Amino acid sequence: MIKFENITKKIGSKTILENINLTIEKGSLIVLIGSSGCGKTTSLKMINKLIEPTSGEIYINNMPISKMNTIDLRRGIGYVIQNTGLFPHMTIKENISLIPKLKNIESKESIATKTNDLLNLVGLCPEDYLDKYPSELSGGQQQRVGVARAFASDAEIILMDEPFSALDPITRSSLQEELFSLQQELHKTIIFVTHDMEEAIKLADKICIMINGTIAQFDTPENILKNPANDFIKDFIGTNRVWDNPEFIKATDIMIKTPISVSSSRNILQAIEIMRTNKVDSLLIVDKSNILKGLVTLKDIKRSTAKETKLEDIMEHDVISVYEDDNILKILELINAHSFGYIPVITRDNHLAGLVTRSSLISVLSEQFLDMEDSSNE
Ligand SMILES: Nc1ncnc2c1ncn2[C@@H]1O[C@H](COP(=O)(O)OP(=O)(O)OP(=O)(O)O)[C@@H](O)[C@H]1O
Ligand SMILES: [Mg+2]
Repeated sequence: MIKFENITKKIGSKTILENINLTIEKGSLIVLIGSSGCGKTTSLKMINKLIEPTSGEIYINNMPISKMNTIDLRRGIGYVIQNTGLFPHMTIKENISLIPKLKNIESKESIATKTNDLLNLVGLCPEDYLDKYPSELSGGQQQRVGVARAFASDAEIILMDEPFSALDPITRSSLQEELFSLQQELHKTIIFVTHDMEEAIKLADKICIMINGTIAQFDTPENILKNPANDFIKDFIGTNRVWDNPEFIKATDIMIKTPISVSSSRNILQAIEIMRTNKVDSLLIVDKSNILKGLVTLKDIKRSTAKETKLEDIMEHDVISVYEDDNILKILELINAHSFGYIPVITRDNHLAGLVTRSSLISVLSEQFLDMEDSSNE
């Protein structure tokens, strides 16, 4: 875990960072994003003591780094910078194995195996590249080696300062994929700086948006897209960004939160009355603790003649439902596949939470177009 506690940095009379408080969970990937000059690189360099704060303290696993030996600290932290920072006079193999060798813990064989594995992981064939020099590689290939080198040190923490910004979009997106899958496997604590919101959304567990040396918002991509803390952030992420990421639109965002539900011990006559007053053509059946048990539609009711028949005798039991955190894509798919007019939404422990209907879907989807009109009028 990395913790910034009241970190302030002043250079002369200029305040570069102002009272930054930030806790980065172990094993998570955090993206720092913000306009040029807002203090991203400065924050990053404080973690490996390339820059010292004017006041405040940074803790790594509860140890104040001001008390830690700088060399030891840096050997435990991988650092990838924009122009890769590879040593030009060393081969790829030497570049990647440099830190593990300096640490002098692993055997030569184990370092060699790891170097090969890492090159494979970042999509470079070891045989072709081990003995080449950085200048013989393309920019994208050099970046890949930079990433491999950062992971080679077995560092728990990896700092990445706009590592992909100089790359063409295709190489960039394939490196993003590789970083993402590396991270799924290795669970490092990664702090990644970018200017690119798309990149941030793709990679981050949490995004930290900085403005003028302060933190404007620190939250999951989903929460930032849905609830930008202020207008600056709204502008920064772009109005319709959430529609580019429909997986962030969840059943809870679409559903009616007070669906009409009744107990299965109601009879048909009562059910008809409840439907009539609420102007609905189906009722969700729940038990005493609000667990979804079934569904009765007007059609089911019409089939039955005896008005005293209890709903439990005619209700449909296997109701297809979605969880609160299922996304709009899954819901649309179900609605289309089964021609449903609605889908109940339940919590993970089967309590009824709401109901997605065609009209609740339409009203959410139409917001998208209203948003688009808004922004095209600006
Ligand atoms: N040595 C220095 N002396 C004076 N000001 C500095 C120094 N280093 C950085 N700054 C200023 O500190 C502020 C933050 O710089 P920093 O490099 O952290 O920004 P950044 O967010 O990484 O920007 P970019 O996106 O352009 O890389 C900037 O206004 C910069 O001009
Ligand atoms: Mg920078």
